[in-house]
Amino acid sequence: MCGIVGIVGVRPVAERLVDALKRLEYRGYDSAGVATVHDGRLDRRRAEGKLFNLEARLAGEPLAGNSGIAHTRWATHGVPNEANAHPHFSGGVAVVHNGIIENFAEIRNELIASGAVFASQTDTEVVAQLISANLKAGMSPRAAVRAMLKRVTGAYALAILFESDPDTIFAARSGPPLAIGYGDTEMYLGSDAIALAPFTSQVAYLVDGDWAVITRTGAEIMDFDGNPVQRIRQQSTASAYVVIDKGNHRHFMEKEIYEQPEAISHTLGHYIDFAESRIRPVAGIDFTNLASVAISACGTAYLAGLTSKYWFERYARLPVEIDVASEFRYREVPLVANSAALFISQSGETADTLASLRYCREAGLKIGAVVNVRESTIARESDAIFPILAGPEIGVASTKAFTSQLTVLASLAIAAGRQRGTITPEREKALVGHLAEMPRVMSAVLNRIQPKMEMLARDLSKFKDVLYLGRGTSFPIAMEGALKLKEISYIHAEGYAAGELKHGPIALIDENMPVIVIAPHDRFFEKTVSNMQEVAARGGRIILITDEAGAAATDLPTMATIVLPDVDEAIQPMIFALPIQLLAYHTAVFMGTDVDQPRNLAKSVTVE
Ligand code: G6P
Repeated sequence: MCGIVGIVGVRPVAERLVDALKRLEYRGYDSAGVATVHDGRLDRRRAEGKLFNLEARLAGEPLAGNSGIAHTRWATHGVPNEANAHPHFSGGVAVVHNGIIENFAEIRNELIASGAVFASQTDTEVVAQLISANLKAGMSPRAAVRAMLKRVTGAYALAILFESDPDTIFAARSGPPLAIGYGDTEMYLGSDAIALAPFTSQVAYLVDGDWAVITRTGAEIMDFDGNPVQRIRQQSTASAYVVIDKGNHRHFMEKEIYEQPEAISHTLGHYIDFAESRIRPVAGIDFTNLASVAISACGTAYLAGLTSKYWFERYARLPVEIDVASEFRYREVPLVANSAALFISQSGETADTLASLRYCREAGLKIGAVVNVRESTIARESDAIFPILAGPEIGVASTKAFTSQLTVLASLAIAAGRQRGTITPEREKALVGHLAEMPRVMSAVLNRIQPKMEMLARDLSKFKDVLYLGRGTSFPIAMEGALKLKEISYIHAEGYAAGELKHGPIALIDENMPVIVIAPHDRFFEKTVSNMQEVAARGGRIILITDEAGAAATDLPTMATIVLPDVDEAIQPMIFALPIQLLAYHTAVFMGTDVDQPRNLAKSVTVE
């Protein structure tokens, strides 16, 4: 994944580059580095681990220079140590890279055969070595970069700085995002507009196959054949003041869990016409005569999509084809014309989701993007943008984005039902009434269950494996519960459809594997209780998350029972998401893990 940033400036850049990297840490945080040119000499500081290590290094050994590039890494090739940290140097060339150079092994072998010595295990170093070999062969920096671009394959956003030319940064995009920032006397480059927000709000996004020569006064953007291209300079909405404040909370994740009532209010305000008690008309996609909807996404966003399958099928009688994007993009899904496709992504940059979008676009489908970042690549390549309006989400484990995605998807499913005549105006009004209750119910739930979740987390942290079960829309919530727990506490957890228990996971049941059952008192309740009986009969420990009606309807002994208010089935997923988020959060806190930046993960995944 990785975040990259560059400045061609008129005053020192090192500190500003590191500040910009802080805004990109969501893209990776296993090592970082910065390089500048000063007095005709390239120099760099790099450090393993979080950015504060790089800051400490720079405090001890500052880096002068008015032009520089910097990088925060999520390792793909080579362990996260200092030698593999970017920028990579070769013969007066410095390179930072986000992505994967797929033919790096072949190029590396060729370069080694002609005498090159590699200093890292990364794929990126071939870019620096190739450019410097081109320079040695007599090419100008510009020609050397262009020849390199013709040679490498794979996914990349690159920033390149030459010792011989401190007034220029070269940039290239094939896959991962890259924005050029326009200042008055300086120019900037970054993985996103948020990184550049303290410097400028004027940005232009490179598109795949663009490269650029950036100087203090402007940017020349070309395609890989060298033909000039125009990319619109636009006002970014990213704010320099946003973020980096946990308020009274210990972690961003905790803050974001508690922000959900407010976030959902914003989302509802956008999608609901409260005066008419209906979902506002949906622009961009007409569901009336659609044959089906294809949905694709990754991680938590995929689980929001899976939940929405139940809604689209139930409320709009619309068949849904859904898969994780890494499978969808290669499955050769036979897409039916007269279908639409929805892509769900908090960041709007996830590589597999974007590739699935392009697959559907090729097939001629109408494309809708359910995104948090409205300026993202997925949003820009869609016919209709459905913003989730969750506000910035910093914790790597998604919480408020998930419930906001669910809120948008529920609204779309209801709107689709209205358009298709599969729900009556009265039913729509009732459903909208239930959606509108969410902020109030969420606040009540968060206040009520917090102490209990903390106590339960203490018990849960003693186990190595946990199973989550649910039926209907509680099945994706069970999967989300397991995902949250494993992401941040590192406890092994699996989410299963309760009915699948006896087809495998039941073999694992004993007193060492708690089973968390998500069971609101809905039409599936009795069936889920039967599955709980099967667990109890085998000595399994049950943690039941239910509602008041459910608690009254079962007297099975449990390790703990969490009781939520009774709510309509339509909003159960959003409400039942809260206890599973809090349980994962408190378990992780209790175990002392890095809650906001769990090991090996990143918030935005721009490689396959
Ligand atoms: C990563 C994040 C998850 C997220 C997933 C999809 O795995 O850690 O929290 O759900 O990517 O990201 P997206 O930005 O597309 O929603």
